[in-house]
Amino acid sequence: METVHKKQVRIGCVGLSGRGSGMLGLLLQIEGVVVPAVCDKVPGRMEHGIEIVKSAPGCNYDVRGYLDYKELLEKEKLDALMICTTWITHSRIAADAMRAGLNVAFEVGGAASVEECWELVRTSEQTGKFCMLLENCCYAKEEMAVYNMHKQGLFGELIHLQGGYQHDLREEITLGRETIHGRLFNFMNRNGELYPTHQLGPIAKLLNINRGNRFVSLTSMASKAAGLNDWIKKNKGRDYDLYNYSFTCGDVVTTMLKCAHGETVVLIHDCSLPRPYSRNGRVQGTNGIWMEDGNRIFIEGLSKGEHEWDHAWESFDEYKEKYAHPLWSKYTKEGVKAGHGGMDYLVLSAFVESATDNLHPPIDVYDTAVWMAVTCLSEQSVALGSMPVAFPDFTNGMWIDREPFRRGVYCLDDVCHEFFAEE
Ligand SMILES: NC(=O)c1ccc[n+]([C@@H]2O[C@H](COP(=O)([O-])OP(=O)(O)OC[C@H]3O[C@@H](n4cnc5c(N)ncnc54)[C@H](O)[C@@H]3O)[C@@H](O)[C@H]2O)c1
Repeated sequence: METVHKKQVRIGCVGLSGRGSGMLGLLLQIEGVVVPAVCDKVPGRMEHGIEIVKSAPGCNYDVRGYLDYKELLEKEKLDALMICTTWITHSRIAADAMRAGLNVAFEVGGAASVEECWELVRTSEQTGKFCMLLENCCYAKEEMAVYNMHKQGLFGELIHLQGGYQHDLREEITLGRETIHGRLFNFMNRNGELYPTHQLGPIAKLLNINRGNRFVSLTSMASKAAGLNDWIKKNKGRDYDLYNYSFTCGDVVTTMLKCAHGETVVLIHDCSLPRPYSRNGRVQGTNGIWMEDGNRIFIEGLSKGEHEWDHAWESFDEYKEKYAHPLWSKYTKEGVKAGHGGMDYLVLSAFVESATDNLHPPIDVYDTAVWMAVTCLSEQSVALGSMPVAFPDFTNGMWIDREPFRRGVYCLDDVCHEFFAEE
């Protein structure tokens, strides 16, 4: 896809395992991007990162590798940093990078503490540097079509939304030590909604969170934890040290959020049982409902069924094309890139656009803080027997009267048709 900006932007990359190396390869396909420095604390991964940059078409510059990101921040002259490390390291690296004068974007994951979210907000406010969560699902074709439909009023007034991270990751989680992968220790030690942002990002944008609306409280309930241990028993011998391990994170964690304007949201975290992948999307308003599972939709006045007794589901397929977001129409014409059906390239393009000209990103530090905070708040609620927990207002009151959002191709706060005039 053709990018809007042709200027050069110097971006460092920290964290080069499966996700980081994939994102680095995509980042290098965006015009104007130069990656002079990469970092991973595992030497082989750092070296692999250097190779990825060197083998990118048009790379005619030096690439330096670091095992310590602080050294990278000290020695390199960069515009921005992309961070793809682990859930518990993203924020501290991001805060250090902002203090070093860089705009930052980091991969998804939940926060370990509310303080961590405040630190991101305050560091971004004090340094004037942006902090963008790389929530690729905000740019998924389905989610963007649903957003476009909402903006055209098809669902009416929004009432209830649902989402989930429902992904069978038993092998990836369980073998975390063998593969040096970050998820395992979280499931061993924490109990809550560990991965809320894929589903919550698009939902929060639909609900205008931080811009006229906000989450005021949540409650979480965790089921028992048996899936990971069951997988170990089926796939490992009795001498495997986790053979009888009792994992902490419940297999299915359900979280309910309440909004200032009365809407409700249900999130489901479900990664340790056998099941097909789903983000469990549901958007329901006074005029209709979309359900990701079953690929179904019902819109009053458009779908078949005049009376409640003959309301019938329709396939979402036609709606997805008819109401395609103009960004996706343009992207499809120009050629969708690999990476989770194309959304990875879009979120990276949004980051690059903002980093190149130091512009407000479409997912800002307040979005990042709110979406990530669900994890630690849900842990608190589970620990308190599903007690409701108050949601902090990371905008400190500004949600009722914010500066206008920046309109543009990658904007997630409106569909900016004026930028797609030729579509
Ligand atoms: N958006 C998506 O679709 C998507 C998909 C996969 C993974 N992710 C997210 O991307 C992140 C990375 O995922 P992964 O599967 O590659 O994880 P991983 O645990 O395999 O890799 C993390 C890497 O970061 C490195 N690292 C950790 N702390 C570091 C530090 N202080 N300095 C330098 N390097 C450090 C580790 O050595 C490791 O190589 C996670 O947050 C994950 O949830 C997102």
